[in-house]
Amino acid sequence: MARTSPVINVMANAALKAARGLKRDFGEVEQLQVSVKGPGDFVSSADLRAERTLRTELQRARPGYGMLFEEGGETEGTDPHHRWIVDPLDGTTNFLHGIPHFAISIGLERDGEIVAGVVYEPTRDEMFWAEKGIGAYLNDRRLRVSARRQLADAVIGTGLPFRDRGDHPKYLATLARVMAATSGVRRIGAAALDLAYVAAGRFEGFWEYGLSPWDIAAGLLLVREAGGFVSDLGGGQSMMASGDVLAANGHLHLPLAALIREAMRAAG
Ligand code: IPD
Ligand code: CA
Ligand code: CA
Repeated sequence: MARTSPVINVMANAALKAARGLKRDFGEVEQLQVSVKGPGDFVSSADLRAERTLRTELQRARPGYGMLFEEGGETEGTDPHHRWIVDPLDGTTNFLHGIPHFAISIGLERDGEIVAGVVYEPTRDEMFWAEKGIGAYLNDRRLRVSARRQLADAVIGTGLPFRDRGDHPKYLATLARVMAATSGVRRIGAAALDLAYVAAGRFEGFWEYGLSPWDIAAGLLLVREAGGFVSDLGGGQSMMASGDVLAANGHLHLPLAALIREAMRAAG
């Protein structure tokens, strides 16, 4: 990897170690698809195993830091300035169904601001990482958001609620508008990777409501450091608190925000 700092090395190494377990478990899940019981319980323990590895590795390298893990919740550290924000397995539904699109996401917060982030996708061996003021990278390569200027040419990622989760009418209203205005919408099932894909210029933009801090901590920094814009859906910066996220390149952030706001207004 290019010019990595000690803290990025700590994060990348922790992710690589946890990913070894996830890859092994993913192989097992592919076998379990055909069993009657299915891989449900097995996936929950794969998730917990990855979290344990990440916790151990990060704690060993930076003993005083606080931690916010998806499964284990908040642990206060002796260092009041630093906190890891970690999703050990983003894209659980994909993992459960044997779909090779999932990631480990690690963000580092310093005094309330995300200063480093790693999103690692084990099946393609893609290490997306960013450090505040240094830039965003995919493995060795510097990342820039896409240069497309027209919504009509844009591919936009999103996340859609399922079963009784989330506000389905609100999603359907925004989806209808974005579908009609763009080259296509993708729902590929891992918010951390959706944001990494905006940073990498694969998606021109991404929006989703009601995400959690561990889904987005690293991804928000990736987009910013790749030259993109991130906001909540009202144009403010409450993403970590509200979980509402709109990310896009500089040309399309405002038009996409306007489109989504208009759709939400029309939906009441
Ligand atoms: C989920 C994924 C998904 C998003 C959901 C998240 P999980 O995280 O990021 O893409 O639509 O809102 O909860 O449960 O797979 O860690
Ligand atoms: Ca997640
Ligand atoms: Ca998760």
